[in-house]
This record gives sequence, structure tokens and C-alpha cells, in this order.
Amino acid sequence: MQEISTTKRWVLAAEQLTKRYGAGCSYCETLTGPERGNRCPVCGTVTACANINFALEQGEILGIVGESGSGKSTLMQMVNLVVSAESGALWYREVDTAGQLVDEPMNLLTLDRYARRTFRNQRLGIVYQRPELGLNMKFTVGGNVAEKLLLAGWRNVGQIRQRASELMHLTELPTERIDDDPHMFSGGMLQRVQISKALSSNPAVLLLDEVTSGLDVSVQARVLDLIKHIQWELKITMLLVSHDLGVIKQLAGRTMVMKNGWVVESGLTDQILEDPQHPYTQLLVSSVL
Ligand SMILES: Nc1ncnc2c1ncn2[C@@H]1O[C@H](COP(=O)(O)OP(=O)(O)O)[C@@H](O)[C@H]1O
Ligand SMILES: [Mg+2]
Ligand SMILES: [Zn+2]
Repeated sequence: MQEISTTKRWVLAAEQLTKRYGAGCSYCETLTGPERGNRCPVCGTVTACANINFALEQGEILGIVGESGSGKSTLMQMVNLVVSAESGALWYREVDTAGQLVDEPMNLLTLDRYARRTFRNQRLGIVYQRPELGLNMKFTVGGNVAEKLLLAGWRNVGQIRQRASELMHLTELPTERIDDDPHMFSGGMLQRVQISKALSSNPAVLLLDEVTSGLDVSVQARVLDLIKHIQWELKITMLLVSHDLGVIKQLAGRTMVMKNGWVVESGLTDQILEDPQHPYTQLLVSSVL
């Protein structure tokens, strides 16, 4: 809990989170690592995330950057309580808008399946690169927002529709398109629909996994502006994953750099950009300059 105790207003903190795909063997530990790769040559087990620590502060955007396969999405899905970590802890603290602790920290990994789902529906929101992962493509925009709100315990149809309309306004979608199907929207608009759905239950933490990676540069810039605007307006805490340091640079105050499942560097984004310590980070930085 060392890093965790040094930050005062954390809402979510990972402690030694680890996820392997495969049975593992006694060689995994020595034959995998940031410089050796994530796949054990003896047993084939992939260490997707190894001993990940971070503390997410109220209202901040923490960036996670790394090449494809470095474990970013696995980490996201562990935080989203969909992929179960095989070891480690994931602490959550409910805080009010002033950052005051409302409840004692709880380890989300100790929750049973039902409690995990409830937590995910009420306190988390996630946006994916591919809209069909975040949206039900057979439901309208309003229907998608309703789906999340019903799972979060909302029951009043009028209030749900009102909420959908508010969120479309926030994400700069024409509210008269509330009854349109997702496949009638462009790529950039679909990301706005996903963001609307993810934000609907007023989550404590918004998870963004490569949300602009599939978009044209100009569309990407406008979606990034929207995310900035939402963070400024709602002071929502975000975990932002991208393989593109340029995206991280624009949004994240602090950044973790992942390679082969390991965090090889972390700190203030500005400092990482100005003075990268790890050779891998230096390579990433030189590619955005
Ligand atoms: N369900 C799975 N089964 C086996 N290996 C997986 C699974 N999901 C991810 N992996 C492996 O874990 C590693 C990390 O993947 P991922 O978290 O998707 O990385 P990123 O999002 O950074 O591209 C990769 O080597 C990937 O092949
Ligand atoms: Mg990924
Ligand atoms: Zn092994």
C-alpha cells in the first residue's frame, strides 16, 4: 500500500494486480518480464499483467500507454471486474464531491459475482474502441442508455428518457436522434453514444480503452476535446488507455507505461515526455515528437 498511502484522495487503487492466461510453471517468473516477453517459452502461459500498482485520484485522468499486447485491455477489464485477477487487490473508496471519505475502503476483488455486477453497473462506465463492444447495436441511443440505467436500478421511464436526452446534449449529439439505431451514426458519433451510455449512471470511474483509435485524425481530435470537456465539467475520474502517447499527452496528468505486462515507468505525463527514463519510453516519446 506504499504508493496508495502517499496519495491523499484516491478513489481506486490497484495493488500488485496480476493476470496470467494459462496454468503457469516454475519457469514463468524467470523467463518472462518486460525485456523477455510475456509468454513463457516452457509452458506457453501469458502473463498479461504483472504486479500492477496505481492509485487513481479523485477527478484525475491517469493514462496507460504501451504497444499492442502490453496488457492494457486486460488491466482495464480487471478494473471493470470482468476479468478476475489471480492475485492482488483492487481498493475502492467512496468519496463525496469535496473528496471526503464516505465509506471505508473495500477490496472489490472480494465481492461475489452479484455484488461485482452491481458495482460495475452503478459505479463504473466503460468505452471501447469498437462501438459494438460497448453498445447493443439493436437498441436505439435511448435504449442503450436505458439498458445501463435499468441495470443500475432506475425504473421510471420518463426519467430514463430525460437522462438520455441530457447525456446526448452533454456529448453534443442531436437529441432528436434519440430513437435512431447505432448503425445510422458515424464512427465519431458512435463514440459519443458510448460515452453517453457509460456516463449515464454517474459512475465514480470512467474507463476509456482506445476510444479514438479507430477514428480519422480530425474526428479523433473532436472526441478528445469532448473528453476534456467532460472531465472539466463533471470532474470525473478516468483511466485512459491508448497505444498512442499523443492521445495520452493531451489528456492524462499522470501516465503509466506498460511493456509485456509490466509497468516500466510511471509519473507525471509532462515529466515522462520531457525526460523519459526507460529505453522503451524513450522510443515512444521520440515517435510523438
Ligand atoms: N483471453 C485471452 N486468452 C489468452 N491470452 C490473452 C487473452 N486476452 C489477452 N491475452 C494476451 O494477453 C496479452 C495482453 O493483451 P491485452 O491486454 O489485450 O493487451 P493490449 O490491450 O495492451 O493490446 C497479449 O499477449 C494477449 O495475446
Ligand atoms: Mg487493448
Ligand atoms: Zn511457464
